[in-house]
Amino acid sequence: MSDTLTQLAYQSFQQSKSVFGLAHKTISSQLLNLISPPINELKTNPIDPKLLLEIQQRLNRIIETDWQDAQRGVYPAALLFDNPWEDFFRYYPALWLDTPTIWQRANQKKYQDFSPGIETEGYPSYYLQNFHHQTDGYLSDMSANLYDLQVEILFNGSADAMRRRVLAPLKEGLKAFNSLPQKQIKVLDIACGTGRTLKFIRGMLPQVSLFGMDLSPAYLRKANQLLSENPGELPQLIQANAEDLPYRDNYFQGVTSVFLFHELPPAARQHVIEQAFRVTQPGGVFVICDSIQAIDSPEMMPLMENFPAMFHEPFYRHYTTDDLVERLKRAGFQDIATENHFMSKYWVAHKP
Ligand SMILES: C[S@@+](CC[C@H](N)C(=O)[O-])C[C@H]1O[C@@H](n2cnc3c(N)ncnc32)[C@H](O)[C@@H]1O
Repeated sequence: MSDTLTQLAYQSFQQSKSVFGLAHKTISSQLLNLISPPINELKTNPIDPKLLLEIQQRLNRIIETDWQDAQRGVYPAALLFDNPWEDFFRYYPALWLDTPTIWQRANQKKYQDFSPGIETEGYPSYYLQNFHHQTDGYLSDMSANLYDLQVEILFNGSADAMRRRVLAPLKEGLKAFNSLPQKQIKVLDIACGTGRTLKFIRGMLPQVSLFGMDLSPAYLRKANQLLSENPGELPQLIQANAEDLPYRDNYFQGVTSVFLFHELPPAARQHVIEQAFRVTQPGGVFVICDSIQAIDSPEMMPLMENFPAMFHEPFYRHYTTDDLVERLKRAGFQDIATENHFMSKYWVAHKP
């Protein structure tokens, strides 16, 4: 396919995901008001047309950046079209079936509600939450099956485009180890969830040794399933707390973490950063992707205020004003840069 055709195909693909996400959210909020209106009026900010325009422009920009990164060879263009279609079709009805339970739990302000049979022993208390009112939090296979679909809907089909923004700084950071054979390069994804970031890293760097860790056995099972579809070596996945990483000091040349920090209390954020520093080899790179923050996106503040009001996100508000650069410096990282794309922010930090 010519570049123009591929670009057009990618733009249409993104537009259709965006329309799908918007349509789902509109129908679902209309049904909510009809069938199960919130008992307590949600205190959310209205989104004015100027802000809507800004959101659309940000979305257009990230799609353009995603395309440009593929064009300049950071990763193959095929990654732009990667989508778990089978899961999307298979679990979309389950998403609707789960919706009334979610509304009920939200209405009753039940935030630590787990089905009988879900093992909750041994997890930190901050983790035992129905984040985003998710049924069984992160602790069931169904939660893992629905997660990617839910996140794509939330971000109007751009969740993967946001994840892919860690790829360019990771690849750049790994250049410090160009003298090593690719197989000796080790990259860890902290809180890998269902494995989408690892899948993209594998697509960009087919030879490097990949590692993923997460607290959720169910999400790791899902990641294992997704990553097994790829030819080549399987990433090593392990269940652990990111506050206490089960790896040797200086083991990895590159470390990433996507959408974790806003779900951690402040002290845990610092512990994870310190652990990332410990396991990164001197000269290595640590790339964080998470939500935008107040300091660089003040115009997006109404959205940042609405998010924890609509979804159960107990640590998000603190996160939006938390200075992660300061935390990274405190852990020992240097040469720290930040970027913003659509609804996400990135920190690229180096271990001296
Ligand atoms: C919002 S999800 C992000 C998952 C994935 N990185 C992505 O891009 O979709 C947050 C993930 O962090 C994991 N998590 C939360 N706290 C953790 C901790 N202390 N240690 C390890 N994983 C944790 C959860 O199990 C979940 O998979």
